[in-house]
Amino acid sequence: MSPLKRLVDYLDVRLGVRELVRQNLTGYLVPRRANFFYTLGAVLLALFSLQVVTGILLLIYYRPDAANAFASVQYIMNEVPYGWLIRYVHVVGSNIIVIALLLHMLSVLFMGSYKKPRELTWLTGFILFNLSLALCLTGYLLPWSQLSFWATTVATDAAGAVPVVGEMAVQFLRGGAMVGEATLGRFFALHVMGLPLLLGAVIGLHLFLMRRVGISRPPFGPEYEPPAPLLSFRHEEHPDGIPFFPHYVAKDLAAIFFFLAALAWVVFYAPALFIPPAALEPADPFVTPPHIKPEWYFLWAYQTLKIFPSKVIGLAVQGAFMTLLAVLPFLDIGPERRPAHRPLFVTCYFLGILLMVAISIWGHYS
Ligand code: HEM
Repeated sequence: MSPLKRLVDYLDVRLGVRELVRQNLTGYLVPRRANFFYTLGAVLLALFSLQVVTGILLLIYYRPDAANAFASVQYIMNEVPYGWLIRYVHVVGSNIIVIALLLHMLSVLFMGSYKKPRELTWLTGFILFNLSLALCLTGYLLPWSQLSFWATTVATDAAGAVPVVGEMAVQFLRGGAMVGEATLGRFFALHVMGLPLLLGAVIGLHLFLMRRVGISRPPFGPEYEPPAPLLSFRHEEHPDGIPFFPHYVAKDLAAIFFFLAALAWVVFYAPALFIPPAALEPADPFVTPPHIKPEWYFLWAYQTLKIFPSKVIGLAVQGAFMTLLAVLPFLDIGPERRPAHRPLFVTCYFLGILLMVAISIWGHYS
């Protein structure tokens, strides 16, 4: 008997591993027509794991205090063997994660998979989206460059426009009147501990919900039939589906390698794409650089604050938009998921994307 079989037998007697494998891998059937967009959740899991590993490696040399932070990042880039590679993978990885998050969210919207019974999966996903953006925002300050300092000053300033509690919120976020040592301390604690722990817990909940309810059947093709009204809990089964392992895992891996290839391409051929010149100078609170812009995924929010005559209106519009997105499954309650049968939703969907892209481009050039 081979040593591997002996090990599996040993574990099977004690843990029932063969049953676990049957229930969760080989005998777990997922929709046959699951397309590329169904792999994005797995892509996100892989990319987040990569961020954890590269983040821990960066922590070995990074110094979280205003006097040393910038120099420690330069040291990682220029002196530590392969330090530049680890840092670029972390920086580019965070941007690719936002792209994958947006695609995951947009595909869930387009296929109506947020609808009953997946409202809670959507809600946990929405929380994950916000936590991920908070991780990006807090990480941006850590290199303590001119870009870090001034982008954080602008971002935390926006909170000041909230009526009544605005000033208090700014003080709380910064740990003082201005961005400084105290801001770096709290952003560091949030970035390396608070937010990743929270994100891990919510990812766990998201996956539990996804697995408990079952993956939705793609609403395309002649054989798709709207499911019968759901009156009590029913796990969505796919008796005609493909096994999760090895068939579906192979699809997931293909998509993961595609995203890793894109990440590697940017790291090796266009590393400066996400690192503008202001990121190469140390923070100086007395010199405001001429063109400070937030990262591309915050440009829409940045520009909305400028479009309206007062920041309060801009903030209210942003808040209303995000709230609408969060509670969408509770408003859009019709059971129809096929895009061709939801013309009003699909029109708003594409117009919404166009509007966001246009406002972001405007923000970039304004
Ligand atoms: C850390 C970020 C996230 C991770 C790791 C993650 C992971 C996953 C995984 C593995 C799946 C199952 C496979 C798939 O459909 O891709 C899934 C499904 C789902 N996710 Fe996410 N997700 C994340 C963020 C989000 C966001 C931002 C939303 C929306 C606001 C969202 C909403 C959903 C919904 C509604 C499903 C069910 C889709 C279906 O059954 O067809 N997720 N997620």
